[in-house]
Amino acid sequence: MRTAKKEKALSVGLDKILTVYYNTVCMRRIASRGRSAASDTLPRRCLPRRNRMQGGMDMTHVLLEKKEHIAVATINRPKALNALNSEVLSDLNELVDTVAADPDIYALVITGSGEKAFVAGADIGEMSTLTKEGGEAFGKHGNDVFRRIETLPIPTIAAVNGFALGGGCELSMSCDIRICADTAVFGQPETGLGITPGFGGTQRLARLVSPGMAKQLIYTAKNIKADEAYRIGLVNAVYPLEELMPAAEKLAQTIAKNAPIAVRACKKAINDGLQTDMDQAIVIEEKLFGSCFETADQKEGMGAFLEKRKHEPYQNK
Ligand code: CAA
Repeated sequence: MRTAKKEKALSVGLDKILTVYYNTVCMRRIASRGRSAASDTLPRRCLPRRNRMQGGMDMTHVLLEKKEHIAVATINRPKALNALNSEVLSDLNELVDTVAADPDIYALVITGSGEKAFVAGADIGEMSTLTKEGGEAFGKHGNDVFRRIETLPIPTIAAVNGFALGGGCELSMSCDIRICADTAVFGQPETGLGITPGFGGTQRLARLVSPGMAKQLIYTAKNIKADEAYRIGLVNAVYPLEELMPAAEKLAQTIAKNAPIAVRACKKAINDGLQTDMDQAIVIEEKLFGSCFETADQKEGMGAFLEKRKHEPYQNK
């Protein structure tokens, strides 16, 4: 007779066998394709089933894993150091659709696959033959996607695990919070390639650090290491590489434990307020502050305090 314990052990064992099988088959397939293969991405169907998200996702270059109320998106084009071509940008757009449509996701972490790069920039091969109109369209594609990431209602964290150059630095800056590995390298090398930053770098870097520092980084096209990125306020914290993802997930989980509607209201208040003058910004905060009093989570949070008990998990209501 099978006990519940035996059933569980069998199912865990089967899961492990399937995972090894999927990985082996996929690695063989990738190895047999060689470096010249058109796709350098681990196919989504090769992920163990439990790592995939439900829903209508069809992304080749972005892997998405949901853990309780947080989601971790991994840009997965390691052979090109996760460089952003049009396909990756479209996948990021789909990522935004998927995450925005899932009310159970309270925070999103974005990172890069492999140990070398977060994202080494926009794809130079794809850009090399663009015309003026093509360049503008490519810039608009990236800018539209990054603006959607920036304005996602939920908090976003860039876990920068290596090179974050050009479009990679710009992607990290479209997230709310940046933390990085001690191996990370940031920079806007575009002027060295004969172009300007094209996915918001001139605007977000100047706002995030200072206009003078942004101009120095952009004009010189010089890269900076993690400690310098921390010193100028581009990243909030630096971790040994192996500690980066646990730290990013812990940070996301900590945020996800707070009242989700209140957290989203804070993001909106900060983002919208920064784009206007202080008189209007304060009004934006007042409205959002007031809206919290219509939520069940506010009643539970304050009720628990007054009753000297720990609040129940917030319901996003
Ligand atoms: N676009 C396309 N391919 C890229 C890439 C990019 N941005 N960055 C790296 N790759 C590819 C390389 O071509 C190489 O491919 P092959 O193996 O097929 O030759 C592979 O990734 C590995 O790269 P390297 O061999 O160069 O690795 P490395 O360790 O010697 O150097 C690096 C790493 C310093 C990051 C170097 O790859 C590099 O300088 N990359 C370009 C960085 C850059 O200039 N980014 C800005 C792009 S412009 C931009 O992003 C504009 C914008 O704002 C929209």
